[in-house]
Amino acid sequence: MRALCWNGINDLRVETVADPELVNPRDVILKVLLTTTCGSDLHLLDGYIPTMRAGDVIGHEFIGEVVEVGADVKNVSRGDRVVVPSPVCCGNCWFCQHDQWSLCDNSNPNPELQEPVLGYPTAAIFGYSHAFGGYAGSHAQYMRIPYADVGCFKVPDGVSNEQALFLSDAAPTGFMGADFCDIKPGHVVAVWGAGGVGLMAMRSAYLLGAERVIAIDRFPERLAMARERVGAETINYAEVDSVLDVLKEMTGGRGPDACIDAVGMEAHGTGVEYAYDRVKQAVRLHTDRGEALRQAILACRKGGTLSILGVYGVMDKFPIGVIMNKGMTVRTAQQHGHKYLPRLLEHASRGELDPSFLITHRFSLEESPRGYDLFKHKQEGCVRAVFAP
Ligand SMILES: NC(=O)c1ccc[n+]([C@@H]2O[C@H](COP(=O)([O-])OP(=O)(O)OC[C@H]3O[C@@H](n4cnc5c(N)ncnc54)[C@H](O)[C@@H]3O)[C@@H](O)[C@H]2O)c1
Ligand SMILES: [Zn+2]
Ligand SMILES: [Zn+2]
Repeated sequence: MRALCWNGINDLRVETVADPELVNPRDVILKVLLTTTCGSDLHLLDGYIPTMRAGDVIGHEFIGEVVEVGADVKNVSRGDRVVVPSPVCCGNCWFCQHDQWSLCDNSNPNPELQEPVLGYPTAAIFGYSHAFGGYAGSHAQYMRIPYADVGCFKVPDGVSNEQALFLSDAAPTGFMGADFCDIKPGHVVAVWGAGGVGLMAMRSAYLLGAERVIAIDRFPERLAMARERVGAETINYAEVDSVLDVLKEMTGGRGPDACIDAVGMEAHGTGVEYAYDRVKQAVRLHTDRGEALRQAILACRKGGTLSILGVYGVMDKFPIGVIMNKGMTVRTAQQHGHKYLPRLLEHASRGELDPSFLITHRFSLEESPRGYDLFKHKQEGCVRAVFAP
């Protein structure tokens, strides 16, 4: 089959690789119908997630059709359209049983690559390095889904492929981020980053009852999506002197009740602090540029919640004292998609959640390197490039 392979930093090529096969009775084989780029893939392209190997098939946001079914999989059959969350989860361990799916104890066959850094291994993630399990990703014609009896969610007839696609990653991530905020009537939620994840966090904050949502980014087309598709108010951080001051003014001096970081380790910024982060990141003295996260911590109201969706590694100058003195709550995780999928599919069926507006570009799998190029450089207004293998 054909697949998009990572071959080194910013070196993606479509290659012919072996077809996947059923390995365990709980596996299914999917024919990938649609798959899309995610901000997390950019951290792979740019070389910030270690343990990638030449030839690894990337991609973790996808929808597919079941073509082969393992003997123990009873919930789906050949021909079903299914959406699958990006983490690989067993369904049986203590963490899966406690709805903390991305912390699954069983799905990562390479715990020794994570334990020295994290203390304990987490769930595997499709197409996301050997430290995260080494499973082949979704930018391919076919894909093996382990633990398919808990990982495959049937897409209802009224929900199109393009609507269901983002329920595998961007939508549950955004929803989890809003869920972490413990939103109460009257709450104001500010979201840094108006990419696929941030936009889904904004929509979810409204679904969970936020009174106002404020989006912070610098790309006018993304901020326009936040206003027009989600109903958020917006701040272009490149056009204001101080995001903190603007947020204070917008919230009667109190600050947003919750701040969601949907930017991650490759934040862009202005000023001295950004230059410092960039230099240290370039020489690999630390992995993260923390401009957005630091701003979110500073801007959050006292006693508020910081919800971190952006992917991070190691950061200098992390203002733990601000979090401590302001009595903030910090929540974060790789997304627990299995927990949220049933609810998100219901929202999609009822027409309350239609993430397909994120699609700005469509390509064949053969053209996917160009899709990544546009997505990475945010050219031609690219928010999500979708590939049809
Ligand atoms: N927790 C999870 O399970 C999970 C799942 C998916 C993605 N992610 C992470 O979420 C982050 C966002 O993903 P995405 O797909 O939306 O990426 P994206 O690259 O499409 O969007 C990131 C956005 O952040 C904006 N940004 C950069 N610097 C900023 C700053 N200083 N202030 C405000 N905005 C800034 C960019 O302009 C861009 O619009 C990434 O770090 C990704 O790895 C996490
Ligand atoms: Zn992702
Ligand atoms: Zn598990």
